[in-house]
Amino acid sequence: MSFYDRVILPPLIRCACSVKPIDRLRARVVPQARGRVLEIGAGAGLNLRHYDKARIDTVVGLDVSAPLLRQAEVEAARQGVAFTPLLLDAAAIPLPDASVDTVLVTFTLCSIAALAPALAEMRRVLHPGGTLLFVEHGAAPDAGVARAQRWVEPLWKPLAGGCHLTRDPAQELERAGFVLERLDQAYLRHVWRGVGYISEGVARTA
Ligand SMILES: C[S@@+](CC[C@H](N)C(=O)[O-])C[C@H]1O[C@@H](n2cnc3c(N)ncnc32)[C@H](O)[C@@H]1O
Repeated sequence: MSFYDRVILPPLIRCACSVKPIDRLRARVVPQARGRVLEIGAGAGLNLRHYDKARIDTVVGLDVSAPLLRQAEVEAARQGVAFTPLLLDAAAIPLPDASVDTVLVTFTLCSIAALAPALAEMRRVLHPGGTLLFVEHGAAPDAGVARAQRWVEPLWKPLAGGCHLTRDPAQELERAGFVLERLDQAYLRHVWRGVGYISEGVARTA
């Protein structure tokens, strides 16, 4: 991992992901988690304070960033959430088949390099009838914004931890065999539209 990824990027990610409009999305989605939860790309643990502790048993937080996962552990202790950190790539999740009730993924599908294997792993570990909750930014529907996303992405990606601007999270989930039970899409207000087209929803294994 480079100096930039180790030292500079984690506070930038934490800061960018802490803004109010994003926190409002977390507050809507995270409390829907129940049972044994697997959070993919747990980051600094910014979702932890939003769990409904009466509905969850444990949270396994998987991430490739050691500095961010350490922050998540501190936050979990502060929030009183039973939290197991896993410093691993989502493309190889060391959990048994059908062993989690909820997969939560927020602002992470954009950054996972090997997305198809990671989504296949999320499907594998999810209990039949379990839910994958997601809030992600991605490819915008407007031609002008989409064009800007294509232009900016090559510069943006190396600075933003491999974040793609042009991925369509809903399409990627469907391609991986998830069924979208609910999908809401809209631009975030007061945020550049290139990173502000949000897909929020619930997916299930078929
Ligand atoms: C923009 S941050 C979002 C963090 C957190 N989900 C949130 O909502 O605040 C993206 C996260 O995905 C993690 N990540 C990137 N590639 C990953 C991979 N292949 N497997 C697991 N985590 C990954 C990054 O380290 C980072 O913590």
